[in-house]
Amino acid sequence: MLDITLADEQVTARCYKQHMPRNKRSTPKKPNPRRSVRQKAKAKPKRKPPRFTKSTADRHVLYQESVQAPERDARFFQRYYQKTTGKPLRVLREDFCGTALLSCWFVKLHSENRAIGVDLHNPTLNWARKHNVKPLLNESQQQRLSLVNDSVLNVLPIKAQLIAVLNFSYSVFHTRALLRAYLANALASLDAGGILLMDAWGGPDVMAHKTDRVRHHGFDYLWEQRAYDPISHHIECAIHFEFRDGTKLKNAFVYDWRLWTMAELRELFTEVGFADVHVLWEGTNLATSTGNGAFRRKEVGDNDPAFITYVVGQKPGCKGQNNRRRG
Ligand SMILES: C[S@@+](CC[C@H](N)C(=O)[O-])C[C@H]1O[C@@H](n2cnc3c(N)ncnc32)[C@H](O)[C@@H]1O
Repeated sequence: MLDITLADEQVTARCYKQHMPRNKRSTPKKPNPRRSVRQKAKAKPKRKPPRFTKSTADRHVLYQESVQAPERDARFFQRYYQKTTGKPLRVLREDFCGTALLSCWFVKLHSENRAIGVDLHNPTLNWARKHNVKPLLNESQQQRLSLVNDSVLNVLPIKAQLIAVLNFSYSVFHTRALLRAYLANALASLDAGGILLMDAWGGPDVMAHKTDRVRHHGFDYLWEQRAYDPISHHIECAIHFEFRDGTKLKNAFVYDWRLWTMAELRELFTEVGFADVHVLWEGTNLATSTGNGAFRRKEVGDNDPAFITYVVGQKPGCKGQNNRRRG
């Protein structure tokens, strides 16, 4: 059985399960030796300005800190691809890439890694260029990253070895026909033996009207499930942020989605031509009752109140395909 663990970190970051990347601690200030004791006594205690407040916070920064673990994900995809195909992963396509942080981290991992990020929202891609690509990547790394402003429903000329779809972004497709068209396009965009890997969420908790709060360094992240229709599986969710000074950023991101089940996803993967379609199920950390970062191929899942998994399929046509998968 293939058992993939997300390296040294304990958990994977996803909005629903609330496993968030560790915040960087701010370095404690050293006392200034030149300040006299009398001055010290007189000086009023200075309040540190809040790290974030509604008027200064950037919703993309907050989103990245709250729901993404791009370095960990990039390493996981490299390991998974290598174990599955026996070859190194050198070309990653990140569909619905948003701020393309995963793509940035992927090109940083190896001097031959190339990434293609696809998103139809150009302002978000521009934000990515300014706030992620330029500060994180050197010249050579930037050359190996392409950001494409297009719909993932359109065929792109560059083929990838692995396509990653994270944070349930395919849920924007409300009909079977649209999701099927997307999956067929993803299949066409992969090399022979290439892998499509999408995260999926489910369990009774995801259908409940509720808001979960997670505390971060300088702000709280709120995940609201505000509407769910059991007939159509239409689901509406929103992300809000609250700051230490009492200000709030409501509806920073609003999602009008269809909640797809893993059964539907697996059937559609197979229908468009993916082979060896399977689910990677995350184990549970018994102490915290949250995900433990170890993903195992499973045929029957645990009936957890909420879970996050990966649905995976492989493009047929690669010699020796699947030989390495089962241990
Ligand atoms: C939930 S965000 C996901 C961002 C990122 N993938 C992540 O893991 O956090 C969804 C992104 O999908 C983009 N999007 C929605 N429909 C799209 C489509 N048809 N083609 C390409 N991008 C699309 C949106 O512009 C948005 O940036």
